[in-house]
Amino acid sequence: MDSRSVLVIGGAGYIGSHTCKRISQLGGKPVVLDNLSMGHDWAAMYGPLYVGDAGDSAYVKQILDEHDIDSVIHFAACAYVGESMTNPGKYFRNNVTAMQTLLDRCIESGVKNFIFSSSCATYGVPNETPIREDMPQKPINPYGETKLIGEQMLHWYSQCHDFNYVALRYFNACGDDPDGEIGEVHDPETHLIPIVLQAALGKREYIEVFGTDYPTEDGTAVRDYIHVSDLADAHVRALDYLVAGGESTKLNLGTGNGISVQQVVDSARRVTGREIPVKYGPRRAGDPPALYADPSKAKEALGWEAQWTDIDKIIESAWNWEQVRIKRDL
Ligand code: UFG
Repeated sequence: MDSRSVLVIGGAGYIGSHTCKRISQLGGKPVVLDNLSMGHDWAAMYGPLYVGDAGDSAYVKQILDEHDIDSVIHFAACAYVGESMTNPGKYFRNNVTAMQTLLDRCIESGVKNFIFSSSCATYGVPNETPIREDMPQKPINPYGETKLIGEQMLHWYSQCHDFNYVALRYFNACGDDPDGEIGEVHDPETHLIPIVLQAALGKREYIEVFGTDYPTEDGTAVRDYIHVSDLADAHVRALDYLVAGGESTKLNLGTGNGISVQQVVDSARRVTGREIPVKYGPRRAGDPPALYADPSKAKEALGWEAQWTDIDKIIESAWNWEQVRIKRDL
């Protein structure tokens, strides 16, 4: 990373703020644009914060000009799978329409490098695991569809303009900054690990395990839990890759290990030393049985590999963050 300024849209959010921290640790200058609908002003602590929308073309132009920016990382999006099934319009508006306005602005302002938050949700229910980037993308919800359209727009913009991108397909982002400066604060919280820890703290009565009859070893659903600091590191490497002249590409970001919901609960019991009441319930609609990555393409392109491969360590970082949240009343 050189000392360049990077526009980080959604940089006050969970993965965005961890990426800003990584950029600034390596000598770069993160400039954050966030409308604070999901992000938090306290999380934008590594550079200037501009409060506004990704689709506000005039405002984006002003920021790009002011900081002489040619590299953008775009995190800002709606990302609740369940909500996308009840309010698809919100997802197409924010994740597609606003992104297209942003892309046009980037092209007009001479942005050359673009890193995009894509998702394993673009694969839908895969025919096989681990998932490789060249496998079919058939989303089963509007959220995944909007991320796939984002990738397709980037493909054509890069074909037609002097513009390159890396689409990073995250698996299950989790864990928190090991220094406890920033971390995950979602409202409502729907993600497994924070919910399990809230049950450990007594903030929830129990954790409901969604489905015990999956064709997996213990019958619960399997995911690839990738630490947010590893994701942050991958973004900076992806930017360096483009700046060095790398071709546009799409990369899975996962550990390559499948972990079941039951294994997450067991690990959280070990880490917290607490009981954690569990209720076993039916499957959640739209949940694939098993999703885990083949991350070898990211290793080849970026020299990136997950460092956080022990689920106990990942959960420990999230548990530490829960204590910080209590102290800071976040
Ligand atoms: N789960 C439970 N109980 C809960 C919450 C979750 O059993 O209270 C289970 C889910 O059914 C799933 C696993 O825990 O099997 C992980 O669930 P999350 O809600 O934490 O994450 P998802 O895998 O559903 O979703 C994540 C991201 C999405 C992304 C998706 C791709 O949050 O943005 O991965 O599959 F689209």
